[in-house]
Amino acid sequence: MRIINVEINNEKLELVINDTDTLLEVLRREGYYGVRFGCGEGECGACLVLLDGKPVNSCKILAIRVNNRKIITVEGLGTPLNPHPIQRAFVDAGAVQCGYSTAGSIISTYALLKENPDPTEEEIKKALDGNLCRCTGYVKKIEAVKLAAKYMKEAKNE
Ligand code: FES
Repeated sequence: MRIINVEINNEKLELVINDTDTLLEVLRREGYYGVRFGCGEGECGACLVLLDGKPVNSCKILAIRVNNRKIITVEGLGTPLNPHPIQRAFVDAGAVQCGYSTAGSIISTYALLKENPDPTEEEIKKALDGNLCRCTGYVKKIEAVKLAAKYMKEAKNE
């Protein structure tokens, strides 16, 4: 057992962890249920979070490695009453069927649009490459990212 200091969704926290805990295990234990366990092997993207602004699969990182770092989960982007434009876009484009992989796709989209507010379809496909989805397929997700780019531009101009 040891204690780490982290900032999760802009909240500074002190967490008790075991040396072998993955970041995914710790986040879920702390109630961040938008971070999902899919494959546990870094292949599906269900557990994606932003670590110091970069998307990472939290199942592949030991919690001990995130001491003094900043994490954003999907819960940090928006709320049901005040969704982020990307979350609105995924709903409006119908890219949310069972929802299991949606949070990871939203994190990938956030990281993409932060770096590149006007991505091409190829760039969107590349950004979502690590997010597996069984039910919506991928066409609606690509449409959702295009719509998210539009919503984010509109939100900036408001
Ligand atoms: Fe982490 Fe699949 S659970 S990538």
